[in-house]
Amino acid sequence: MVTVADFFCGAGGFSEGFHQSGFDVVFALDNWKLATETHDINHPTCKSITMDILKIKTIEEIDNIIPDTDIIVGSPPCVSFSNSNKSGKADKTLGVELIEQFLKIILHKKTKPNSKLKYWIMENVPNSLKYVKDVYSAEELGLDKNLPNLEVNNKEVLIASNYGSPQGRRRAICGDYILPEITHNENNFVHIDVILNALGTPSNKKTLIQDPCWELSLTSEDLTDHYYDTELPKEIYSKARKLKVDHGYMGKMDFPDRTNRLCRTIMATESYCSRESIIFPKENTNDKYRAPTIRELSCLMGFPIDYQFEGGSSTNKHKQIGNAVCVHLSKALADAIKKDMDIELNKNERQIVKCKTNLNELKEPLFMKKISIKPRKMNSKFHSHVPEMKINQLRVELDNVESDFDNVQFLWKSSLHKGSGKNAIKINLTNDKLEPLLKKHKSFKEINKFVKEHINKKNINNSLIFQQKNCNVEVKEKHYSPTEILELISERIKKLNLDDEYVENVDLDNLLNYKKPNTYSYKILYSLYLVNKVADLLE
Ligand SMILES: C[S@@+](CC[C@H](N)C(=O)[O-])C[C@H]1O[C@@H](n2cnc3c(N)ncnc32)[C@H](O)[C@@H]1O
Repeated sequence: MVTVADFFCGAGGFSEGFHQSGFDVVFALDNWKLATETHDINHPTCKSITMDILKIKTIEEIDNIIPDTDIIVGSPPCVSFSNSNKSGKADKTLGVELIEQFLKIILHKKTKPNSKLKYWIMENVPNSLKYVKDVYSAEELGLDKNLPNLEVNNKEVLIASNYGSPQGRRRAICGDYILPEITHNENNFVHIDVILNALGTPSNKKTLIQDPCWELSLTSEDLTDHYYDTELPKEIYSKARKLKVDHGYMGKMDFPDRTNRLCRTIMATESYCSRESIIFPKENTNDKYRAPTIRELSCLMGFPIDYQFEGGSSTNKHKQIGNAVCVHLSKALADAIKKDMDIELNKNERQIVKCKTNLNELKEPLFMKKISIKPRKMNSKFHSHVPEMKINQLRVELDNVESDFDNVQFLWKSSLHKGSGKNAIKINLTNDKLEPLLKKHKSFKEINKFVKEHINKKNINNSLIFQQKNCNVEVKEKHYSPTEILELISERIKKLNLDDEYVENVDLDNLLNYKKPNTYSYKILYSLYLVNKVADLLE
């Protein structure tokens, strides 16, 4: 029996890979009760404890609580290191403290008399590598200074899909372990559709489900968390669609997700209105979309189809899955250690106890009830471009960012943007300068008719109400919201069929720093003309 202890065990992705390889996971720790409950039902022979790892202070406490094992694995929480948290600028103090506490336990177990610890592995997001040193002295880890240092022999970023995972998740893997050999590349990657096809559509039960990754089959009666409706309301998916295909300055992404490719990284938050969201077309419909089921996400993370998630809600189950180490990556690390130890191990079969809340029992579509358009704080910033009008790097934006929010004074501005990042240019160009360019154009009259009908004091007359509409505050007056008027402008301009209509203009070339003469789409010029009209009304 070769034993493993798993710290920050979560639902048990790391444990599961070692279990699949034949190791005995005998100890697991996490401070989230739901996670240890999940770990318990899937790893019934393992002793798990629910506690804050930072409460383990002395070496006596370490030895009282944690058994000696051959291997220690752990994935300290990545929130403070993750790029998605405050663009990677979140406070790292707690994250570093948790890593060092984990390393303290490792150094103690490694240096105690008759130690049996042979390998250790720490998993985290790639960004965490900056905060993991090559060597730690015993003293800085809070141990007797006469003990040897802890050396972090390996520090690698590994990609789960290179080990058979359907997910291209990149993770920093540090410690004292054997680097596994890559088994998968673009010629044999496991794509999303392998998982979706194996499970079958949620609305149509297959009789027998063969696990897409592991040797295991289940009847549909035993497959939990898959047969329920995950259709997304338009309010949610259209936000994701805009961010993915029509982001102001970021690149275009698939909407819905293509399934003949690797799965993007599954996040811990159950959100379907962001660029990170994974969204599929809803089967047997024309223009409806759905979220992956918990079972699909779990398989995309590499868990076997009988793995159960406690937690009561889809959100809690989702979080456990999004937090996990990809099982294929964990198994590859375990297999490499097994080979290095030159041992044969046999996987213990386990009898799974089903989770208490099975989402198959949901009667209503899961997300339909979640659309409550809640009012936001009145200091909410707005900056958005005219939808689907990004042409040759140019877009027209409406924003309120220069408002005096503390004194409830809202300033709405229009601007023309070129590009993004360091070389981005933003200019304001008033309509008296634009008009000479547009006056003779065939659509100018029609555009002004639109102005009369929509961009007038009746529909847009007050910067406060405009902000209230932006913040979803209910108002008595009929008044467009910033998003509504931008959408209306976009729709109107699209109808003018201006696809091939461009004009040259030296003044704009100079303002936008074009070295050679450039041509400007009338769609962009009319967008600016109309957004200027909106901003002028709100002055
Ligand atoms: C990245 S997740 C672990 C995922 C897990 N290894 C898996 O493969 O499923 C990090 C875990 O650390 C736990 N955690 C956070 N702070 C903790 C603390 N102070 N003590 C113990 N566990 C903690 C969280 O509850 C979470 O489950």
